[in-house]
Amino acid sequence: MARVVVTGGAGFLGSHLTDALLDRGDEVVVLDNLVTGSLRNLQHLAGRDGFTFVNHDVTEPVSVPGEVDAVLHFASPASPPAYLALPVETLMVGSRGTHNALGLARAKGARFMVSSTSEVYGDPSVHPQPESYWGNVNPIGPRSVYDEAKRFTEALTMAYHRTHGLDVRIVRIFNTYGPRMQHDDGRVVTNFIMQALKGEPLTIYGDGSQTRSFCFVDDEVRGFLALLDGDHTGPINIGNDGEFTMLELAEVVLEVTGSSSTLEHRPLPVDDPRQRRPDLTLARSLLGWEPTIALHEGVTRTTEYFRGLLDAGEI
Ligand SMILES: NC(=O)c1ccc[n+]([C@@H]2O[C@H](COP(=O)([O-])OP(=O)(O)OC[C@H]3O[C@@H](n4cnc5c(N)ncnc54)[C@H](O)[C@@H]3O)[C@@H](O)[C@H]2O)c1
Repeated sequence: MARVVVTGGAGFLGSHLTDALLDRGDEVVVLDNLVTGSLRNLQHLAGRDGFTFVNHDVTEPVSVPGEVDAVLHFASPASPPAYLALPVETLMVGSRGTHNALGLARAKGARFMVSSTSEVYGDPSVHPQPESYWGNVNPIGPRSVYDEAKRFTEALTMAYHRTHGLDVRIVRIFNTYGPRMQHDDGRVVTNFIMQALKGEPLTIYGDGSQTRSFCFVDDEVRGFLALLDGDHTGPINIGNDGEFTMLELAEVVLEVTGSSSTLEHRPLPVDDPRQRRPDLTLARSLLGWEPTIALHEGVTRTTEYFRGLLDAGEI
C-alpha cells in the first residue's frame, strides 16, 4: 500500500486514476481547485477509507502532512476550449504548479509522475509520433499556452531528475475519452454523443473520411499505473493507435444511442488538425501495455454516462 497525492484528481483522468489507486489499496490525497474539474467526479468516494479531498490551487505553495510515496501531477486545463479560456492559468499550473508538485515529491522522497501530452509534438512532420521526435510547436500561437506549458513541465521534471536525483515518470497522453469527460469539451466523441442523445444532427466536417484515434479511459489509466510501477522514466506515449474515420464513429454513435439523428456535412475548417497518432512501441515493449477496449464498448459506456446526466437534468 502506498500514500499517493494526485493533483487534478477532480478532473476526468485524475478521478479515474484516483479510483484505480483506491481500488488497489492505496491511500489518495486529491489536490484540486475545481477550475475545470468537478466534485461530481468524486462524489462516489465520499466517506471512503483512505480518500481525502483538499480544495487547493497548486500554483500556491503545496504542503501535505505525513508520508507520501508518490506525487502524480495531473492538474491542468486540458481541452482546447478550456485552455484557450484560461491561458495564463494553464501556463502557471504547468510551470509554478509543476515546480510546487516536484518540490513536494522531493521533500517527501516520493516518486513523481506527470501528465504530459501528444501536444508536445505540435503539428508533427513524423507519423506516427515516437517519443524520440522533438516536435514542431509554434511558441507564440494561441495553443502555445498549453503546448509550451507541457514542454516546460517535461524540461523541469528532467531537471529535477538530473539535478536532485528525483525518481520521475513522464507520460505523454494522447486523446482519451470516457465517462466524466466534460460534455462541452469540443471533442468529436463528446459532440457526436451529445448531438445523438439530443436528436440533433451530427456535424461532420468535410466528407467524414478524415481519421482520429481515441483511447478509452480504463486503458489509459492502466497505462499510467504500468508506467508508475515500472522502472522507466519515459517519456512514454500512452494512447490508442487504432484509427477510425469520422463516418465510422458517427455510425457507432448512432447504433449505440439508437438515435435517428441525421448527418450534417459542413466545410472542412482550414486549420483542421492533421491527426496525431501514437507510436506505442515503447509502451508495448517496456511496459507490456497496450489498449484493449474497442470503440463500440467505449462509446457504449460513455453514452450511458451522458444519458444519466441528461436524465438527471445535470447537463
Ligand atoms: N483528456 C485527454 O485526452 C488528455 C490528453 C493529453 C493530456 N492530458 C492531460 O491530463 C491531465 C488531466 O486532463 P483531464 O482531461 O482530466 O482534464 P480535466 O480538466 O478534466 O482535469 C484537470 C483537473 O486539474 C484541475 N486543476 C487545473 N488547474 C489547477 C490548479 N492550479 N490547482 C489545482 N487543480 C487544478 C482542474 O480543476 C481539473 O479537476 C492534464 O494535465 C492534461 O493536460 C489529457
